[in-house]
Amino acid sequence: MQLFPNLLSPIQIGKTTVKNRIFMPPLSTNLAEKGYVTDALIEHYSNRAKGGVGLIITEVTTVEPVYTYLPGDMSIYDDSYIPGWKKLVDAVHQYDTKILSQLFHPAYMAFPIPGTPQLIAPSNVGPYYAKSAPRPVTVEELHTIIKQFGDAAYRFKQAGGDGVEIQAAHAHGLLGGFLTPLYNKRTDEYGGLAPDLGSNQGNSETVRGRFCDGCAHFR
Ligand SMILES: Cc1cc2nc3c(=O)[nH]c(=O)nc-3n(C[C@H](O)[C@H](O)[C@H](O)COP(=O)(O)O)c2cc1C
Repeated sequence: MQLFPNLLSPIQIGKTTVKNRIFMPPLSTNLAEKGYVTDALIEHYSNRAKGGVGLIITEVTTVEPVYTYLPGDMSIYDDSYIPGWKKLVDAVHQYDTKILSQLFHPAYMAFPIPGTPQLIAPSNVGPYYAKSAPRPVTVEELHTIIKQFGDAAYRFKQAGGDGVEIQAAHAHGLLGGFLTPLYNKRTDEYGGLAPDLGSNQGNSETVRGRFCDGCAHFR
């Protein structure tokens, strides 16, 4: 423990105090059913809490109904998901463990479930394994999606959750794609190497501003 003297001491994140610095990163399990929390998911996460993890970040959780990342992924795109999430949050909180939901839009990485419309992406570029090119998401659709992220954050708050993590990593999914020139070849205000994800609080016309409309519930 000498190498990590602060590992077991609390840490303040915003208004939340996490009891130690052992965090569980997001790891997809495919244990959800039609996006709903299952007993298996509750057991999986509450066992980590029981084991002493201070903060759990859940696996990817989709914020809208049209595109599925993997069939067993978690969702929170309407209010019917709140009771299941509440059960999960309560199970983890029993052990004084905090929990964030990892909000995600799969976009060009959505699973090809029959009936899925043409996949969307920042531009008409998809991953190497895609059978056909995605279409660029429109600005109007983006405004809807941004609101969906905010609404999803609010639902998680209603379930008693401690906060959300926005998945924008690994050049994965819609937001990860916007952050890399490999996928983002747009020339509008969402183009460029660093699109307007962060021109900061308060401006509800920016992506972050609209996320924050939902995420503000955690401040
Ligand atoms: C089976 C598996 C599922 C994963 N699921 C997610 C996920 O849902 N969301 C995410 O952001 N990262 C996911 N990851 C990435 C892990 O969170 C990441 O590997 C972890 O943070 C460890 O980071 P490192 O590999 O840099 O040490 C997954 C990784 C694996 C192996």
